[in-house]
Amino acid sequence: VKVSIININSLTIVALWLCVSLLLGCSTEQKKEADVTIPPSPKEAVWLVVSGDTRGNLENCGCQDMILGGVATRAEQVRLMREENPNLLLVDMGGNANNTSVSNIARTDATYNAMRLMQYDAVLINKEDLAIGLSLVQDAANSYSPPFLAANLRLLWDDVVPFWRKHIIFERAGLKIGVIGIISPAFLELGSPFTIDEPRDALDKELAALRDKVDVIIVLSESLAPYGNEEYAKIPGIDILVVFDGVWVDQEESNRTTCMMSFGLQGRSLGRIGFEKRDGSLQLGQPQLYPIDSRGPEVVDIRLMIDELAKVYMTDPAMDSFTGGYMLDLPSERDPENFYMGYESCIPCHTDEYKHWSKTHHARAYHTLIREEKQLVTLCVACHVTGLGRVDGFHVKLDGKPMADVQCESCHGPSGRHAQSPEEKGLTRLPERKTCEICHTQKRSPKFSKKFESYWKRASHK
Ligand code: HEC
Ligand code: HEC
Ligand code: HEC
Ligand code: HEC
Repeated sequence: VKVSIININSLTIVALWLCVSLLLGCSTEQKKEADVTIPPSPKEAVWLVVSGDTRGNLENCGCQDMILGGVATRAEQVRLMREENPNLLLVDMGGNANNTSVSNIARTDATYNAMRLMQYDAVLINKEDLAIGLSLVQDAANSYSPPFLAANLRLLWDDVVPFWRKHIIFERAGLKIGVIGIISPAFLELGSPFTIDEPRDALDKELAALRDKVDVIIVLSESLAPYGNEEYAKIPGIDILVVFDGVWVDQEESNRTTCMMSFGLQGRSLGRIGFEKRDGSLQLGQPQLYPIDSRGPEVVDIRLMIDELAKVYMTDPAMDSFTGGYMLDLPSERDPENFYMGYESCIPCHTDEYKHWSKTHHARAYHTLIREEKQLVTLCVACHVTGLGRVDGFHVKLDGKPMADVQCESCHGPSGRHAQSPEEKGLTRLPERKTCEICHTQKRSPKFSKKFESYWKRASHK
């Protein structure tokens, strides 16, 4: 008897999925998102492909080797999958909004637009989306019309027509596939125009409605609280259950027939499973996690849309916090103990170091991007500026000033406190080799590892 307990942590993103079907021969599997190994394609006729939890992260900073995600790269990978198997069923688990700042709304809107371009079949409305406000989702439904799902979300006012559906029936490779969406109970503000019905009741109703009409039932579920995933998977009639969080399974003792799968949080991966009917019975393949390598090729239309948005950000004063949508949870407030100050504040006391640095390539790194017309591409910007993603660090909006280029604090760390009280020890630091390697990766600086001594010598101010 194999029992695996898997915890999911939204930061380290150990994504997982597992499959609990005895009948169908699925097995438990767990994989780190960090290894960007593309799993082999399922051999079954229909592929269910699942994304979710994008939270406005159109792209990421790309400053480290194993950073995953990005909407334009996702689109390209979806395109390739579709090319390989046109019988794709592409769904999203919701959580596309992040917060209600003007720039985040713009990013969420862009995400939905990108979904239209990717031809999503269904998008779950989840409680994150509700927390931001249903109107954002409704706007998307009006402008980009992705088919939204939420079986237990109900409007209290009869005169408003819901723009979402309880379930949708698709047809792929001769199979009728019913997809049901379930939103988990959430705190709703008084006066809210909608309500969330008990998930289990709603689910039972939808299962009963679909049972005789379809060959396969897929449930996209935020959660079925108070049920754990374990009990959830025992509910008869669900063939594939897509969930957010970590689940455990004792395969041999359970007699479930449901295959449970997950997907990469923060839009970093796609979950994928193949299925088909063989000799009258449904055959499910192995669920897989398909990491989205953010450095991979992109769909041009979506890239252009993101770049366009970045330009709007630069010129529109209402766009306050466009941090590019990096995948990392970066602090949004200046840390009084540890903040960036900019090279100019160092000059009076470190004139020699300044003179040396100002002649190095580091002091022109952002200009290099301007030359290449890539100064708005966050994927590039990360390593060519200082403190990207921090309020006191580089902002695209400030058009290069004052934190552009690889400045003193890229190597010595945020040194604002040191500059204010240089007599106190430990407020700045000397770099180590690994400080350089944050940017001098194998891909971006292939000679670095072999010629380390020479690089080091050129960067230090002797
Ligand atoms: C008011 C003067 C002053 C300012 C401004 C200042 N420093 Fe310093 N810095 C010092 C002094 C004094 C030392 C100690 C020198 C020594 O021990 O030889 C020092 C030491 C350092 C060291 C060496 C630390 C070590 O562990 O050996 C670094 C790195 C450094 N400063 C970086 C910076 C940076 C980056 C800035 C700008 C953000 C800055 N300093 C601003 C005065 C200043
Ligand atoms: C924040 C990212 C970042 C960090 C940290 C960083 N570098 Fe760089 N480095 C760059 C970029 C970007 C360039 C290319 C600049 C350009 O030409 O636009 C570069 C260029 C260089 C060059 C010049 C190469 C040439 O073309 O001749 C040397 C040498 C170098 N870095 C050494 C180092 C060393 C040593 C460290 C660590 C002490 C370090 N760098 C830390 C980003 C970084
Ligand atoms: C992971 C960090 C990183 C990212 C991301 C990155 N760069 Fe760089 N870039 C570097 C480093 C480090 C160097 C210096 C390489 C060396 O000389 O060894 C460099 C050098 C360059 C140079 C050569 C500078 C010169 O004139 O010699 C260009 C051009 C450049 N980068 C453009 C880009 C563009 C465009 C992107 C986005 C597609 C990008 N970089 C993304 C780290 C990065
Ligand atoms: C690309 C990385 C990099 C950047 C950018 C950089 N330094 Fe340094 N700095 C170094 C390295 C490497 C050393 C030597 C560390 C050692 O000896 O262990 C050093 C040493 C120092 C020291 C200690 C005394 C000395 O000269 O060795 C000071 C002070 C200093 N830097 C200040 C600055 C200031 C001020 C700036 C910006 C004007 C700056 N550094 C920019 C990498 C950098």
